Amino acid sequence: MSKKSSHTRDLFVSKFGVIAAAAGSAVGLGNIWKFPYITGIYGGGAFLFVYLGFIVLIGLPVMLSEFAIGRRSRSNAFGAFKKLAPGSSWKYVGMLGVAAAFMILAFYGVVAGWSIDYIVKALSNSFASKTPGELESLFINFTELPLIPVLYQLFFMVLTMAIVIVGVKDGIEKYAKFLMPLLVVIIIVLGIRAITLNGASEGLKFLFYPDFSKLTAEGVLSALGHAFFSLSLGMGTLITYGSYINDKNNLSKTAVQVTLADTVIAILAGIAIFPAVFAFGIEPGKGPGLVFITLPNVFQQMPGGYFFSILFFLLLTVAALTSSISILEVVVAYFKEELKIKRKTATIISTVLISIVGVFCSLSMGILGDYKLFDLNFFDLLDWISANMLLPLGGLFISLFVGWYLGKDLVQNELSKGSLVIKSLLNVFIFLVRFIAPAAIAIVFLNGIGLLRFG
Ligand code: PFF
Repeated sequence: MSKKSSHTRDLFVSKFGVIAAAAGSAVGLGNIWKFPYITGIYGGGAFLFVYLGFIVLIGLPVMLSEFAIGRRSRSNAFGAFKKLAPGSSWKYVGMLGVAAAFMILAFYGVVAGWSIDYIVKALSNSFASKTPGELESLFINFTELPLIPVLYQLFFMVLTMAIVIVGVKDGIEKYAKFLMPLLVVIIIVLGIRAITLNGASEGLKFLFYPDFSKLTAEGVLSALGHAFFSLSLGMGTLITYGSYINDKNNLSKTAVQVTLADTVIAILAGIAIFPAVFAFGIEPGKGPGLVFITLPNVFQQMPGGYFFSILFFLLLTVAALTSSISILEVVVAYFKEELKIKRKTATIISTVLISIVGVFCSLSMGILGDYKLFDLNFFDLLDWISANMLLPLGGLFISLFVGWYLGKDLVQNELSKGSLVIKSLLNVFIFLVRFIAPAAIAIVFLNGIGLLRFG
């Protein structure tokens, strides 16, 4: 989907290519693994409600901001700020992005490794006739092992590295274009099976009925962090992708489509999981194992479950891969352009460094589980710092940059390429990035880390 233009930079050829690449980055483990498990921890419907609010009021405007910064500057995340704000400190926002990318990929690779192991388990029919309790032990015993999860994680990292080096984005995105819709179909089938289980309605009630008394400051911060994580925002991924978008593309429409696709897929995953959680008597706040424990129960109870389970974990791994390449790209672009290292060397160095940190994430599920900071093991710590601190801070600066530094005229000029800008919508957008998004992020952040207390 990308070709060399007559200049030196790649450009996406088709409009669908832009959406496929950005949606490929957005849709991943965040939607299918993380969204259900944190929704489970933070109490269900109220968390979903707040999450959706953040998606519309903060996520969408920040996504449009990243696209606009990227296309305007035609540079990577650091170069973009350097070019648009020469001689200023804005480029450090890019640094923040690299740190976030580094941490996210370290634990992301671990979970993608679990998904690969579950393809193998599915192939060998390991879920058959196991009780919910046995399926839970299967997951826990596996993730606590010192070696096998690490090997799968490293295998996934090598796949990610190979794709980023060879630049077969054309290849992977060509496949992703039909594999991702297939993943959606499977989640819908799983959802139908889940909501027809005995006792399923409790799960739907848990997911959709907001009980605001369950909401905590930490839950609200996690909803914000997850809005950024799930939409791939706050660390320059979509600035980089935006820099490849051609001037005929309607950025606002693309941002709306990507946001919608990402959100719908997360909700579908919730519909496939929570009814089953309640039907099988699983604890919704179980944590990172929730999806891996719940879905095998559903596969057991459906015709063709054997094939569905293989296909599901295979597609989950592909979804993880289209996201992980976009995360690695942020780090590689930094090494390559700022430290002037060749692309291939930069990719290898960053993959090795990230994988080393990732191994500790994997081990913190088992033998290193007792080493904790703020009551979080290393895996959870990296997840928490990146998603709940670095991405919201990145988003805060990006919205301030567009709202105050670039200003309305320049934004209008950029957004009017490839589309008609509706004045009133532009005003809403500027208002959101100038005031609402930064204020909301600041308040939620300070409240979530306990520096400010409401109620
Ligand atoms: N959005 C991805 C997911 O939901 O799995 C994860 C991710 C990708 C986060 C790219 C951040 C990012 F820049």
